[in-house]
Amino acid sequence: MKFLVTGGAGFIGSNYLHYVVNKYKDDYFVCLDALTYAGNYNNIKDLEDKKNYKFVKGDITDRKFIDQLFKTEKFDIVINFAAESHVDNSIKNPGIFLTTNIIGTQILMDASLKYNVNRYHQVSTDEVYGDLPLDRPDLLFTEETPIHTSSPYSSSKASADLLVGAYHRTYGLPTTISRCSNNYGPYQFPEKLIPVVISKALKNEKIPIYGTGENIRDWIHVLDHNIGVDLIVRNGKDGEIYNLGGHSERSNLEVVKLILKQMGKSENLIEFVSDRKGHDLRYAIDSTKIEQELGFKRTYNFEQGIKETVDWYLNNTDWINNILSGEYRFAYQAQNDSKINS
Ligand SMILES: NC(=O)c1ccc[n+]([C@@H]2O[C@H](COP(=O)([O-])OP(=O)(O)OC[C@H]3O[C@@H](n4cnc5c(N)ncnc54)[C@H](O)[C@@H]3O)[C@@H](O)[C@H]2O)c1
Repeated sequence: MKFLVTGGAGFIGSNYLHYVVNKYKDDYFVCLDALTYAGNYNNIKDLEDKKNYKFVKGDITDRKFIDQLFKTEKFDIVINFAAESHVDNSIKNPGIFLTTNIIGTQILMDASLKYNVNRYHQVSTDEVYGDLPLDRPDLLFTEETPIHTSSPYSSSKASADLLVGAYHRTYGLPTTISRCSNNYGPYQFPEKLIPVVISKALKNEKIPIYGTGENIRDWIHVLDHNIGVDLIVRNGKDGEIYNLGGHSERSNLEVVKLILKQMGKSENLIEFVSDRKGHDLRYAIDSTKIEQELGFKRTYNFEQGIKETVDWYLNNTDWINNILSGEYRFAYQAQNDSKINS
């Protein structure tokens, strides 16, 4: 089967590609990424020499380009990881979130319909459900929980999800959607909590925490998210939504303290800053459906996963420094130049 994987140079997409390109030698994977500030070619550079993989630089909002790509490549499966993904950016500049996350999704689905793709999978988020109160640990998001968004980011993702549902019902596009909780693991851009904490702590810089740090997230290792996506894409039912959670609820403060402890750093580095506007209190996911229907099982518990993740960043300080210096923006060009010169 031939797969289109959009956003494959980002955090979750690059981890997905490492997982599947090595696992499914008879499938072929085309990674499409616009290499925005969040896309890092270094995340996938080592896949270049694989026979069942290639990289294409391009934008999912470019209708002509996408149509031509689908016409030439004849994809069987499309997985859309590409998105503007940082809530803080969406508060400052919502427009690009609507363009990439909603219009980009529509353009990919139009091409999927026109060229008879067998499965269109939308990678979504638990943030479409809004938040839960801190004092009701009994409440969890299920696939039936109504959409109730807080940020421009989550609203754009929820809009895309509604469109995916509409394309399935109205045009019969074979779709699936996964809604996942907060991911952690290698290759996460240092704008999100865990890599921010590690990169700041490495330099003994203050670590900003919103509000009082009591906001709760459910954390899942990125490999477990991708195992779930792979199960849905191959065995999921058309038109269905599947929640994916880590069964690991932790407050932001707990997460930061755990990382500092592992790094042997002082909690004095923590600095509480004014809260994010509209900050969601608590996310918690019920993954029963994917566990029962598709046999999903997590391979990580949080403490073990965080330990490995911190070790990965500490062993890959070049990867972080390359981003902090801005050099990573030239990685794709450098790879092409080296091909031309060799
Ligand atoms: N990070 C999380 O914890 C989390 C949790 C649940 C769901 N998700 C969803 O998973 C997906 C991937 O998230 P991530 O954390 O890897 O994001 P990311 O920001 O690390 O990566 C996004 C990738 O998309 C690419 N991209 C952006 N706009 C594009 C465009 N117009 N055309 C082509 N490529 C474009 C970027 O270059 C980047 O490589 C997103 O859809 C996000 O909403 C993320």
